[in-house]
Amino acid sequence: MDNEPVIVAFCCHYCAYAAADLAGTMRIQYPDSVRVLRLPCTGKIEVNYLLAAFERGVDGVIVAGCLEGGCHFQEGNLRARRRVERAKQLLTEIGLEPERLEMFNLSSAEGTRFAEIVTEMNARITKLGPSPLRRSQDNTEQAVEGLRKQAEQAIAGVTS
Ligand code: FES
Repeated sequence: MDNEPVIVAFCCHYCAYAAADLAGTMRIQYPDSVRVLRLPCTGKIEVNYLLAAFERGVDGVIVAGCLEGGCHFQEGNLRARRRVERAKQLLTEIGLEPERLEMFNLSSAEGTRFAEIVTEMNARITKLGPSPLRRSQDNTEQAVEGLRKQAEQAIAGVTS
């Protein structure tokens, strides 16, 4: 349905992605509005990448990285937090609610926490309503697939 939110979660391979996997294995229920995209580290996130997600019509974006002090690339998650804050400023400047974007830190063992984060963001985005940049559901899903391909390329660049 066109009025269901679409939320992209950029998840670090080492923590949030594993936590999402764990939530699935534990059969913990969470809203299906979230599309999980795996990154090698949240430090790979650029401000432009975050803004592109909104430009392509997604309603909300989660960036989920390792706990502070736990990033496998030393300070990737700290860099990501600074970029998220910068992207929030830019969202405000273009008239989009900065609450549509949030960064979280969690460990790979926190499947329940992952589900809570998604539930919290889903409630927040539902309350805000669809993004004014929202396209049709099909176009938004296509855009998410484009973002997924970019994320997979980032993973391949690290693991190949
Ligand atoms: Fe997980 Fe950097 S390796 S945020």
